[in-house]
Amino acid sequence: MFGKLFFYLNQNLGKVFFGNPNSLYYNIFSKYHQNLISKKDRSDDQVKKYVNDGYFRTNVNSYELCNDIAKSLYKQKIDYNRAQFQFEIDDDLKHKIRSHINIEFKDTLNKIENFYNSKVAVAKVRIARNFHINNVGDEVYSNNYHVDHYTYNHFKLFINLMDVDICHGPLHLYSKNSTKKFLKKNKYKSRSNYNNEELENDLVTNTGKKGQSMIVNTTQCLHKAGFVEKGFYRDILFVTFITIPEKVSTDDFFYYEKFFKNTIWNTYDTSEILKIAKPKSLKKTISLFFKYYKNRIN
Ligand SMILES: [Fe+2]
Repeated sequence: MFGKLFFYLNQNLGKVFFGNPNSLYYNIFSKYHQNLISKKDRSDDQVKKYVNDGYFRTNVNSYELCNDIAKSLYKQKIDYNRAQFQFEIDDDLKHKIRSHINIEFKDTLNKIENFYNSKVAVAKVRIARNFHINNVGDEVYSNNYHVDHYTYNHFKLFINLMDVDICHGPLHLYSKNSTKKFLKKNKYKSRSNYNNEELENDLVTNTGKKGQSMIVNTTQCLHKAGFVEKGFYRDILFVTFITIPEKVSTDDFFYYEKFFKNTIWNTYDTSEILKIAKPKSLKKTISLFFKYYKNRIN
């Protein structure tokens, strides 16, 4: 009885007190982490945007990597009967993605490390193709507005593997503040229960050229996969990161790979690494907070 009540309150009070549908515990965690652990370097525009809005467009060009990925994907037999197809990532491609993240995204990720005051590591890499779906109401590939239920130490990099226009169903998202507005305006109760009127002036879509990318705090910004029009599809590379709650000295963003060998690259594996930012109780949420506090860099 009390268990159920707590669960209900935890799931719903985030919306009331923080204006975002993540759980109450995770919202409190994030607020205290941001106030007591993180470092807000106001001189950097990207970090400033990440702190204020919850997302930013990177200035990294991944065009060459997109070409390498396209060459490898071309050989795969695509199942057109599914709404979303997950591509296999072979060893050669793993190597290319690893180097690209470690070298080209180093500066961007270092700035994010400074903000979180912790090292950052990859938790999951996924390459997928979204197809048109006939019934708009069906949620088949996160195409309803939601936030990811993790603490805010979990964030995502979305790299467009092709030129993406609105007809390809780009990622749709709202900044942290607009998320509040959206919930209110659309009487948002859950990802399957809300009115669906976009806030035209606030909506952000990840349209752009092949190789462009965006970093989004998907735990705080309402987001969804956009609607793919008939005859189109969208290829995307998703990289999920978390911050490391231990004291480590590494420059390898694939730090966890040596502990959890296949989990990063295996789409169907519920990643042990992701679970770090998904504490299962209030007690575990508090102890995770203190772990980050104790092991902060500065
Ligand atoms: Fe999501």
